[in-house]
Amino acid sequence: MPKRIAVLVSGGGTNLQALIDAQARGEIVNGEIVLVISSTPSAYALERAAKAGIPSCVVARKEYPSNQAMTVALVDKLKEARIDLVVLAGFMVILTGEMVQAYPNAILNVHPALIPSFAGPGCYGLHVHEKALEYGVKLTGATVHFVSEECDGGPIVSQKAVEVLPDDTPEVLQRRVMEQCEWQLLPQAVSLFCQDRLKVEGRTVRVLENAECGMQNAE
Ligand code: GAR
Repeated sequence: MPKRIAVLVSGGGTNLQALIDAQARGEIVNGEIVLVISSTPSAYALERAAKAGIPSCVVARKEYPSNQAMTVALVDKLKEARIDLVVLAGFMVILTGEMVQAYPNAILNVHPALIPSFAGPGCYGLHVHEKALEYGVKLTGATVHFVSEECDGGPIVSQKAVEVLPDDTPEVLQRRVMEQCEWQLLPQAVSLFCQDRLKVEGRTVRVLENAECGMQNAE
């Protein structure tokens, strides 16, 4: 049975688009995006879902008294849709422990920096690239990781670096990190998860060969 994937978004949804495009090319092996949930009613990501024919809904932060109450509502929706993998693709609300307890090692997040640099509360979206430029790093990149109860602190699945160039603005750097890192890493990680090829051993994630994980008949 293909794994049922939910993608949680808040904004433009370019990472969602990368997943949709990868799925159309047959690159999400043994998985299917069946639900998109947005924390913002006006998110352009919702239009991307509609164009791809993927059901979507809004779970707006402002409708709930706390992040915890919102997290509980999200878990209910995900369980109702029989979701196997939750993907945070530019999701800007910090989820509470209830989500991790409901989906242990089954939530992937893409972060636009090389964790543990420029990560944690307050490091999201364009701010991450502003901080990287302020610090003067010569390399930055993106990280896909499993979500744990520590913000941006879960086991790392994959990372890719790009150069920071002398005249970069936060917007230019963000675009380079998205194009060269995020849009490649996230679909690859999702596909590996769906093939049961990601094995979490403490803080380390081992990528299994096909033969090691019983997926040899799926290819
Ligand atoms: C992406 O760069 C993503 O890595 C980042 O927000 C952007 C969303 O873009 N996520 C975070 O900062 C989460 N900590 P998108 O809506 O176009 O995918």
